[in-house]
Amino acid sequence: MSRSLHLLTIIGARPQIIKAAALSRAVHGPFAGRVKETILHTGQHYDANMSQVFFDELGIPRPDIDLGVGSGSHGVQTARMLEGIEAGILEHRPDVVVLYGDTNSTLAGAIAAAKLHVPVAHVEAGLRSFNKAMPEEVNRIVCDHCSTWLFCPTRTAVDNLRNEGFRAYPEGRPSVDRPLVDQSGDVMYDNSRHFARLAAERSDVLERWGLRPKEFVLATVHRDHNTDAPERLNAIFRSLFALHERSGSTVVLPLHPRTAKCMERFLDPTLLADIKGAAGMLLIPPAGFLDIIELERNARLVVTDSGGVQKEAYFFDTPCLILRPETEWVELVEHGHAVLCDADPVRIAAAADDFLEHGIRDSPPLFGDGHAAERILEVLLRDHS
Ligand code: UD1
Ligand code: UDP
Repeated sequence: MSRSLHLLTIIGARPQIIKAAALSRAVHGPFAGRVKETILHTGQHYDANMSQVFFDELGIPRPDIDLGVGSGSHGVQTARMLEGIEAGILEHRPDVVVLYGDTNSTLAGAIAAAKLHVPVAHVEAGLRSFNKAMPEEVNRIVCDHCSTWLFCPTRTAVDNLRNEGFRAYPEGRPSVDRPLVDQSGDVMYDNSRHFARLAAERSDVLERWGLRPKEFVLATVHRDHNTDAPERLNAIFRSLFALHERSGSTVVLPLHPRTAKCMERFLDPTLLADIKGAAGMLLIPPAGFLDIIELERNARLVVTDSGGVQKEAYFFDTPCLILRPETEWVELVEHGHAVLCDADPVRIAAAADDFLEHGIRDSPPLFGDGHAAERILEVLLRDHS
């Protein structure tokens, strides 16, 4: 019998911990005995409600290695990770390093693995905003070009890679010089399907905050382009406050720690006081995964700059306003489920009114069949044997 496939999974930021749950579930379920997983947490996110809560709720095993790098400038943070990940790879000698998405943890993992000649599987490969001012765009391009397997969530992601010169190699084992591009589907869709029923049974988030289904708006803001630019941050929060006043809907804001800090620093003091004083502007701590998907499923409208939240709104048929000038998830906009509003109060108000009046059609399945994780493991096992 062949030796089991040994994966080293690298996670660090909230969305990566959530994404990793899908593969871990398969490793400990249908693939038990054939695949072994070692988990390295860089410690990029470290508050209990940005990290530990997801291990507890989603059944992910405790990390085997915890680097505890914490926050810092891009250079400092990435350098600390690079050093720790290199040591982790040398100690554990995995067959494959698995990386998720586009954070600094992804970047450090890609560079460390590529330099040690350990093949990389990039989950959520091929996404592009075509905006290199985003740190994520740089991270994902570097990671894609260091990868042996590029697991794409959508057709658009495959097309982006083909346009960058990634070819289809008809035969032979993939390598970093002859990488495999595979449309695997989206592990986030796997997770949303898997956890939606559990969330409906277990989450009491609506009762806890006195919310009624389809009578509130869910908003999340965390992109540096929005939080660290006072003009944009003020425009976004002014728009959310105006939306609350105009529609009478409560606006629920689970605040990323970055945003909580920047609100205090950058918001006009009168606006900040108005928001804090309004019962219908509900500023709450970052939510756990079961709570957030219950909020997404029951909201009238989602307003966000998050990649993951945009897509989950789509999975749950909730219309979405995107607080960015562009998105990697262009399908959502093309199907009329999301509107790009940037930080523009006029566009935010117009799109919100339109969705609140007309709603949206059902969402066609664009992100796979809910079994992306199993497909990814099948491909890796096939190429390992
Ligand atoms: C990171 C990712 C971003 C992703 C987001 C998910 C990069 C470059 N950015 O952005 O792509 O969308 O995670 O949420 O990797 N902080 C805390 N406690 C924590 C974590 C962060 O207080 O547990 C605060 C710190 O002040 C820190 C700031 O948030 O400086 C930003 O954290 P960081 O991980 O650098 O970037 P994110 O904005 O979270
Ligand atoms: N999320 C969460 N609690 C929150 C906000 C988001 O669990 O308060 C989840 C969300 O459901 C999605 C993921 O975190 O699965 C998205 O992460 P985030 O918005 O931090 O980053 P992005 O997807 O933009 O990289």
